[in-house]
Amino acid sequence: MKVDSAHRLILGIETSCDETSAALLRGEDQLLAHVILSQDVHRVYGGVVPELAAREHLRVMDRVLDEVLREAGLSLDAVDAVAVTAGPGLIGALLVGVTWGKALAFARGIPLVAVHHLEAHLFAPSLEDPEARPPFVALLVSGGHTLLLWVPEWGEYHLVGETRDDAAGEAFDKVARLMDLPYPGGPEIQRVAREGDPTRHPFPRPMLRGNAVPGDADYRDFSFSGLKTAVAQRVAELSEAGRLPEERPHVAAAFQEAVVDVLVAKTLRVVEETGCSRVLVGGGVSANRPLREAFRTALASRKGGRLFLGSPRISLDNGAMVARAGAFRLDRDGPSPLEVTADASMPFPGLLRPGHQRSGTGRVRRAARAEGNASSVPVPPL
Ligand code: KG4
Ligand code: ZN
Repeated sequence: MKVDSAHRLILGIETSCDETSAALLRGEDQLLAHVILSQDVHRVYGGVVPELAAREHLRVMDRVLDEVLREAGLSLDAVDAVAVTAGPGLIGALLVGVTWGKALAFARGIPLVAVHHLEAHLFAPSLEDPEARPPFVALLVSGGHTLLLWVPEWGEYHLVGETRDDAAGEAFDKVARLMDLPYPGGPEIQRVAREGDPTRHPFPRPMLRGNAVPGDADYRDFSFSGLKTAVAQRVAELSEAGRLPEERPHVAAAFQEAVVDVLVAKTLRVVEETGCSRVLVGGGVSANRPLREAFRTALASRKGGRLFLGSPRISLDNGAMVARAGAFRLDRDGPSPLEVTADASMPFPGLLRPGHQRSGTGRVRRAARAEGNASSVPVPPL
């Protein structure tokens, strides 16, 4: 029997990187149970080891599923659909979740829906705040991605800025490694930086020229590899002088402040251009406390300013956001075929690159692309 969307129970599964997670979501916002297991095996390697991640997912997956059902006090019979992250991510890790989801859907005769990991991050804050819905400007900052989006409605994602090299989370992880801090680097840098003075080692703010104007090629893009190199040089000098232990907090604080400044400033440029002061920040780096504070301060003084941020638990990789995005995709596109498979570089559904714009009917059409010309935010202000 088909269940209406408001009562439908979706099992969300996430295994794209180093969290094994499952959640049970009733309708769009009733989170009945949520289990997240973070893998520790990678800590000593300074980064996620893909083969180990896949093996760990396989080892704990059935325990995680048992646990989420137990927490909700339900049996598998109650589950109406399975949503699983199919990409992007580590292929071996994704395959564990996707295969599990497919087997479950097939065996139970229930729909399967393949979810895009970044679309899931976009939906995450709405699990805790029903107001966290479009229109908004979105900054997605994770270990693998840094995207600025203009989102007039769910399913329509205008890409207005992205990183040209490292992702923000990757920069945190690499800089942590340079300073002999364990993986994941973001929380470690945040912790160490608490004791630091960010002015002692001034680092560049990449692509944040004060005289930049809309239309400049780098106006809304990010670059973190130069900043990482600047930190590497400073760390090398300090190590050489035997001063790294005492200077580590100051370097961490200065690096963190540089990243936060750039992320906030670029997002505010899109706020200016769209005239939309509703901002959503998602992905693992959005758990960063100074980043959250900086966004709060920046938006507090703006008329109509709203900030949508999930709690840290919902900002990092988790199954609940997968179930939530799955509910949307199930209603919009219907179930995925059982032949669907994991795709390490899965295209973002509904992502529109510069050169696309909305037609008068509200449908999205492709406009002539001006090659090499940095276009403006493609959608008129609200
Ligand atoms: O979204 P996520 O959990 O996984 C991916 O989809 O990649 O993001 C993980 C990234 C890692 O790079 C991690 O260092 C970073 O998020 N991260 C943080 C913090 N917590 C996690 N970065 C800065 N500050 C944090 N508190
Ligand atoms: Zn993620």
